[in-house]
Amino acid sequence: MEDRSVLNHIKEAAAYIRAQYGATPEIGMILGSGLGVIADLVEQPTVIAYKDIPNFPVSTVEGHAGELLLGTIHGKQVLLMKGRFHLYEGYGVDVVSFPVRVMKELGVKKLIVTNAAGGVNTSYEVGDLMLIKDHINFTFCNPLIGPNFNELGVRFPDMSEAYSRGLRKTAHEVASEQGIKLQEGVYIGLLGPCYETPAEIRMVRTLGADAVGMSTVAEVVVARHAGIEVLGFSCITNMAAGILDQPLSHAEVMETTERVKPKFLKLILGIVAKLD
Ligand code: 6GU
Repeated sequence: MEDRSVLNHIKEAAAYIRAQYGATPEIGMILGSGLGVIADLVEQPTVIAYKDIPNFPVSTVEGHAGELLLGTIHGKQVLLMKGRFHLYEGYGVDVVSFPVRVMKELGVKKLIVTNAAGGVNTSYEVGDLMLIKDHINFTFCNPLIGPNFNELGVRFPDMSEAYSRGLRKTAHEVASEQGIKLQEGVYIGLLGPCYETPAEIRMVRTLGADAVGMSTVAEVVVARHAGIEVLGFSCITNMAAGILDQPLSHAEVMETTERVKPKFLKLILGIVAKLD
């Protein structure tokens, strides 16, 4: 007998959230390190601690609050994850992507994901924003491994447009209206937690990556399985190893995030305003 308990776990988490907030969230948002400030833009939010949601994991890394916010931005119903789960924390891909399954159960149709990433493309500059055109799953795992539940999606999901062309077009329009430089490139997701070696960065560049990070891919795979449209952004917080003659640090990642915040916020808000 296959284990169908995950279906109940999703429903229990969703039921708890629905009991706190009646409206149906249309747009889901998962914000990376230091970008939780977007949460401040949710009007009259209902705040739910992850620890109070049945079956929800709890985040361990510094700078990642563990809260779900439900409310509106520009009149659109949003559900925003302040803090996400990473494979390097020791969670499995099932845990990392669980919140996306709960979003689907709650009615989310579009997902905006953001992350901090290292620049692999040497024409990028620290502080650039990159619209994710596509990703490479280099985590050697996949959240869809195991029995497929047809209620959640098909066995062999198409990934040819993992990041929605239509949403990307909107993002470019808003960026150009706002005079924001928006790169577009391929994100490669690795396990972490150490940053890569210069040799690894040369390798991922050869593979076609423009930015490198430790999140996002598992969440996006589950979102696409569930038929959720995805829009993703990387904040290029530092250049990856071997590009500049300097060591990498989490402090630099946080500093750049802090500096880029205002333009990042404005861009995301502008996009949310335009979504239908
Ligand atoms: Cl250089 N690598 C990875 N994997 N994640 C990052 C990063 C680099 N910079 C910010 N996040």
